Amino acid sequence: MRFYGRNIVRNTAQNLVSCWRSVARTLAEHYRYERPLGIRTTGYVYRRKKGEQANEFRDDVLYEPTGYGQLEQVAALVRPGPGDVVMDFGCGKGRAVAFFATKGVAKSMGVEFRAELAAVARENAARLVGRTSPVEILVGDFLEVDLDPVTLFFMYNPAGEKTLKVLAARMGESLARRPRPIRLAYVFPICAQLFDDCPFLARLPAAEGVKDIAVWVGGAGSGAGEGAPGAGPHPSTG
Ligand SMILES: C[S@@+](CC[C@H](N)C(=O)[O-])C[C@H]1O[C@@H](n2cnc3c(N)ncnc32)[C@H](O)[C@@H]1O
Repeated sequence: MRFYGRNIVRNTAQNLVSCWRSVARTLAEHYRYERPLGIRTTGYVYRRKKGEQANEFRDDVLYEPTGYGQLEQVAALVRPGPGDVVMDFGCGKGRAVAFFATKGVAKSMGVEFRAELAAVARENAARLVGRTSPVEILVGDFLEVDLDPVTLFFMYNPAGEKTLKVLAARMGESLARRPRPIRLAYVFPICAQLFDDCPFLARLPAAEGVKDIAVWVGGAGSGAGEGAPGAGPHPSTG
């Protein structure tokens, strides 16, 4: 009995600590990023509404925004620039889209199949402070969007293996149709192996060992699939 009591106290304490950490992180992000940018993207979706649509393979992950610290890390690794069209696959309330739209890219895009989240992303894009780039938010399944304009692929654990397998295949088809150098940044990369298995992608060495973030370079001139994995146009590919 004393054993169970101790476990209950320990679990409650752990839950309180993680709850407090999450509140502290949200507050810090609000004052450091959300308020200056003029957007509202915090908040999590914990459970599906009754009868809510799921993605085609029913393996979509519910909304949770990428941490701003992780977005900063991604930007330092991929160095978004004026030649980039960025797309966030499963953009939720548009945090990453807004972030990249302040980095001087040619265009920052997002696609989200939950219409109410896409509507919030559009509102955020409209009031974004310090925007340097046009923004476009698409409503729908990211397996159906035109990938040909995209040079910088971004995603934060949007879905499981079935969906991402199709996305990877579509990326390959797009590169065959329109050869170009691309980068793929995947935060919380639970299906990283899928992209490791793509002959047209190679890991960015500078991102090896970065916690919870995986980056690949690929396509024309990247060296991926050309016998020199990782050798690419990006200065930090080594
Ligand atoms: C973990 S959240 C990431 C949100 C956003 N990328 C960010 O970083 O703030 C994953 C999002 O992907 C969306 N999603 C999952 N599968 C999708 C699909 N096939 N097409 C479009 N959106 C999808 C979910 O609705 C959810 O909003």
